[in-house]
This record gives sequence, C-alpha cells and structure tokens, in this order.
Amino acid sequence: MLLDIAKLSVSYGEHLMVQNVDLSLDRGGVLAIVGESGSGKTTVIRAVLGCLPHEGRVTGGAITFNGKNLLTNTVAQWRQLCGTQMAMVFQDSGSMLDPIQRIGTQFVEYIQAHSSMNRIEAAAAATHMLARMHLANPENVMQRYPFELSGGMNQRVGVAMALFFKPQLLLADEPTSALDVTTQAQVVKEMMHICREDGTAIIIVTHNIGVAAYMADEILVMRTGRIVEQGPSSAILQDPQTDYTKELLQAVPQIGEVHHDLY
Ligand SMILES: Nc1ncnc2c1ncn2[C@@H]1O[C@H](COP(=O)(O)OP(=O)(O)OP(=O)(O)O)[C@@H](O)[C@H]1O
Ligand SMILES: [Mg+2]
Repeated sequence: MLLDIAKLSVSYGEHLMVQNVDLSLDRGGVLAIVGESGSGKTTVIRAVLGCLPHEGRVTGGAITFNGKNLLTNTVAQWRQLCGTQMAMVFQDSGSMLDPIQRIGTQFVEYIQAHSSMNRIEAAAAATHMLARMHLANPENVMQRYPFELSGGMNQRVGVAMALFFKPQLLLADEPTSALDVTTQAQVVKEMMHICREDGTAIIIVTHNIGVAAYMADEILVMRTGRIVEQGPSSAILQDPQTDYTKELLQAVPQIGEVHHDLY
C-alpha cells in the first residue's frame, strides 16, 4: 500500500472541518474525491502534502506514506518528499507560474532545485516532458511567458512539471475545471497516460463525477467534512446509495459527453 489515511481530522482554528476520513491507495492506483464546495476535499489533500494553511492543523488520525507516518515529518523531510515522491497540480497552474519568467527558465530552475542536472541537461529533459504532455513545438513553449500560453497549455506545463520526477503519488486538485470540456478531457487523458507509464498513483479532486468515473478505480464522496459514500467507481455511478451522490450525478449533464470523449 502506498498511502493510508486513518481517521483523519483537521481543524481550522477551533473549527473541526474534516472528521474521521479513512482512505487507502495502492501503488499506481487512482482515487477520486468528489463532493460539494466546502466539503473538505482540498483540506484532505493539503493534509497529505503537509501544506495546510497556517490556521489549519491535523487534530487526529494518521497519514502513512510508504509505511512512514507523515505527520511526524520535519519541514526538511516534507521538502525532500514534495516534488520528487509526491507532487501536486492545481486548478490554475498559470497562476502558480511566475508571470515574468519564461516557462523554460522556471522549469529548469525547478529541476535543478531537486536534482544535480546541469542547465543544458535540465532544459533537454524539460522539453522532452513538455512533449510527453502533448505540447506542440515544446522548444518554442520553453521560450514563452505564461501569459502567452492558453489555459490548457499552462495546465499542461503544470502537469509536466508535477510529473517530471516520476512521483509515486500525484495530488490533483480540480486540475482541469478551469478548462472547456474538450480540453479537460485531453489534459486528463494525457496526465493519466503518463501516470500509467510511470506507475504514479493519483488522488484527483473533482466536481465532475464523470471525470472521476473515467479516471478512478474508486470514488470517495465527501460532504461537510465527512465521507458519505465510498466504493468502486462503477458501483457509485450505477448504484449510488445516498441522495447526495444522486444529486452530484444529476448535476453533471455533460457526463455522457465526457465519457465519450475520453474513451
Ligand atoms: N484557511 C482556512 N481557514 C478557515 N477555514 C477554512 C480554510 N480553508 C478552508 N476552510 C474551511 O474548511 C472547509 C473545507 O474547505 P475545503 O477548501 O477543503 O473544501 P473543498 O471541498 O475543497 O471546496 P471547493 O470544492 O470549493 O474547493 C470549508 O468549510 C472551508 O470554509
Ligand atoms: Mg477545494
């Protein structure tokens, strides 16, 4: 088992916002977390990455990664883990990139911060990774600034950077929700393809239960900080046990389309 979360609770100040969350993920497995806004999805994955906002803290439970309790990690240990063994993609990678630096400069700096590659090796490897994420003309993309790229292209750059070191676990928080449906489908497909090749496990947070069903072996449904339903994707889709999950399913009219695009 790669990741095991047992009875996780997280508070922001005095407020208990996530309660008793259990989940586990095998190497190379894909798990989706779905649920309405404010249900605690981001909080759970931030707890795994050790990057809760400063008023947030884990108040109960355990998070075990590769057999090691992450909650006893020092800041230096987190730093060592993040980027190489665990990586994250955000909803809007464009805003995570430095607007006044070329993509290539940022990517090379990121690689050099985590490895001993020289500038030329890092640039070649970065270009190769952009090509793996299906960015046409990656040499040219390396020379561009983030504002010169489309949302989908910036998101591909964000995914390429996150997956560069072949992490064992990718945490993806609404990685495609800012994109149109067709681009969403393409980016998800490319991301999944690389993860499958490299053996990277994924936790994806998404509002789109259609994307969740396509990607994930298992779906976890959250509401007000708790898990309300959890099971194999096909079971959740075909036989949802709670009205809440049924509502989530109904709220995604393009589910058929997304499926169609992706398969
Ligand atoms: N920095 C913070 N300080 C205080 N409360 C917070 C903070 N961040 C999140 N919360 C609260 O924790 C709860 C869960 O938030 P979280 O961001 O995990 O939800 P989410 O499921 O990711 O929602 P969304 O789908 O909108 O991204 C919410 O009630 C939110 O108001
Ligand atoms: Mg969120």
